[in-house]
Amino acid sequence: MKRKENVSRRSFLKSSGLAAAGAVLATQGSIASARTGVSNETVPAILGGPKAHKTGWQSWPQWDAKNNTRMIEVMQSGIWSRRSKVSDFEKKWAEMNGVKHCLATVNGTNALSAAWMQLDIRPGDEVIISPYTFSASLFGILYKGAMPVWADIDPMTFQIDPKKIREKINSRTKGILPVHICGYPSDMPEIMKIAREHNLFVVEDACQAHFAEIDGKKVGAFGNAGCFSFQETKVLAVGEGGGILTNDTDYYHRLVSYHNFGYPSQAKPGQIGSMSYILANKIRMAEYQGLIGLCQLEKFEEQHNLRNENAAYLTEKLSVYPGITPVKYHKGATQASYYIYAMVYNEDALDGLPRSRFLEALSAEAAPGVCPGYQNDPIYAQEFLDDAFKTDIYKKFYTADELDFEKYKQRNHCPELIKTYNKAVWLWHPAFLLGSKSDMDDIVNAVDKIHNNVAKIKTV
Ligand SMILES: Cc1ncc(COP(=O)(O)O)c(C=O)c1O
Repeated sequence: MKRKENVSRRSFLKSSGLAAAGAVLATQGSIASARTGVSNETVPAILGGPKAHKTGWQSWPQWDAKNNTRMIEVMQSGIWSRRSKVSDFEKKWAEMNGVKHCLATVNGTNALSAAWMQLDIRPGDEVIISPYTFSASLFGILYKGAMPVWADIDPMTFQIDPKKIREKINSRTKGILPVHICGYPSDMPEIMKIAREHNLFVVEDACQAHFAEIDGKKVGAFGNAGCFSFQETKVLAVGEGGGILTNDTDYYHRLVSYHNFGYPSQAKPGQIGSMSYILANKIRMAEYQGLIGLCQLEKFEEQHNLRNENAAYLTEKLSVYPGITPVKYHKGATQASYYIYAMVYNEDALDGLPRSRFLEALSAEAAPGVCPGYQNDPIYAQEFLDDAFKTDIYKKFYTADELDFEKYKQRNHCPELIKTYNKAVWLWHPAFLLGSKSDMDDIVNAVDKIHNNVAKIKTV
């Protein structure tokens, strides 16, 4: 395949020993060399050659055995419900993100729901959401009886497109829910500008985007609330767990109360007989989870920096290959979380090699976590929405036309999202970017082998 302009094949070869060996042999006919026994390193694994990556990837989540004693102490203390470990974890996460308050919760789904439950949105209101996500992002909006409205994504950043948000605003709009999908930051400066102009609430779904940042400011620190998941695959992994960041102290106290039966925010867990002042829930993080979080935070920054360093290296090396374009940062974005390393696939630039075949070939090379990303019906076409629309509260506040699900799907159709479903390539593996430069070269070499053998991979 022809390389993109500017970056010569020579400059790529210089910096990648393994790939260099493979690429040079490829030009001489790698299948032939495989047959003669000289070397078959350049034969794609899907055609019977050796895998580009042979040493294996780190596993995830990771637990450092040096923390075993601390965990045993918590378990033997008899204090398993939330106390100081959870509050220490909250303080630390808030501080690391440059935000006043953090409230830990049982998971990211409930962090998001709580965040919406304690904002003044009502039946009849509308909230504009990024559609490149799944149901967990928006349950809270539906619990409030509000109407989800979808604004399409930018196909090169995968994030909600602020221009599309503007097109969806009307007098009923009350909020925006950007989702920092794959761990890349959404365009928060632009989104906050729109929110200020129209007096809208903003809840950031940062469940995949710990420490992603824009001009040095962390995502989750822009809106009224920023919600995180600490589920086991996430880059800050507790197993299950979530967190809400906010700079609004009143709102924080309402959230504390909401997450503990509606008791006053100063009430201690386990206290019997407190009054419930608000309609609430119980979504407290447990003490051993707080300790896991504290232990993970000790190495989190170092891991985050390494992920960014390796991702930048990979992006530079991969950028010479037509047909796979690493997802771009929007203007001003400075770091991603790299929960997922995402790319845009263009089969026309690979002589029509279908994405599914490319993914198979990449997987065969032992590239990490290869998958096409979300593949289900688009979120605005999923049945849980229609279920909500059939409830009395929706019937009372919206017209039959607004609740007609076929019309709803048409109104909310997002063409760029659908194209992205068909073009995305995800490396969804939270530990692979903690590998060595040689591990990254293996991924580049895998792509190089595929590129040099497109015709054969297509036909076999
Ligand atoms: C974008 C997004 N939103 C919300 C969630 C929900 O988080 P949790 O699984 O911790 O409930 C997740 C995690 O899976 C997510 O990736």
